[in-house]
Amino acid sequence: MRRAALLLCALAVAGCDLSGPAPVRPYDPARPPGVSGAMDPPDGAVAMEAAAPVNPYPANPYPADWDAAARGADLYRVFCAPCHGAAGHGDGPVRTILSVAPPSFHDPRLREAPDGHLLRVIEHGRGIMYGYGSRVTAPERADIVAFLRALQAKGDTSR
Ligand code: HEC
Repeated sequence: MRRAALLLCALAVAGCDLSGPAPVRPYDPARPPGVSGAMDPPDGAVAMEAAAPVNPYPANPYPADWDAAARGADLYRVFCAPCHGAAGHGDGPVRTILSVAPPSFHDPRLREAPDGHLLRVIEHGRGIMYGYGSRVTAPERADIVAFLRALQAKGDTSR
C-alpha cells in the first residue's frame, strides 16, 4: 500500500516537468517597435462628428387636443401635482421634503423642450425623480404632456 502511494507520488512529480521554458504567451506589442503616437483607428470606426445624428427623443404620435389635455389634467393632479404643484411652478406640498426642487414647467428650458423629452422624463424619471413608466401608460403620458403644454400656454401665474 505504502509502496503504491510512493509510486503514485513519483509519477505525479515526474509528470510535472518544470525544466522547460515558462508557458508565457505575450500579447502582441501595442505598437510596432520604434513607433509612437496614435495608432490607426480600427476598421469601421467613424469620427464622432461624422457619426449619423441620432434622434434622442421618441416621437409623440398622440394628438394633443383639449380632450387629451383634460384627461392629462386628472392624471397630473394624481401623479405630478404633489411635487410639481397644481399650476406647475414646482411648489407642490411634497416639495419641502425633496432634496432637489422640482423645476417649474414655465422655465424656458422646459417650455422649449420637445414632447419627446417630457415623455421620456415621465417614463424613466430624471435625477432624483423616479419614472412613471410602470404606472402611467404611453397614451396617458402623452395626455399629461398635452396638459403640461396647456399649462405652459397659460403662462407663469406665480408672479
Ligand atoms: C415625488 C416628487 C415628484 C413627482 C411625483 C413628479 N416629479 Fe417630476 N421632478 C421631480 C424632481 C425633484 C425633479 C428634478 C429632478 C432632478 O433634477 O434631480 C423633477 C423633474 C421633472 C422634469 C424636468 C426634467 C428636466 O429636463 O430637468 C419634468 C418634465 C418632470 N419632472 C415631469 C413630471 C411629471 C409630468 C410628473 C407626473 C407624471 C412628475 N414629474 C412627477 C419630482 C417629482
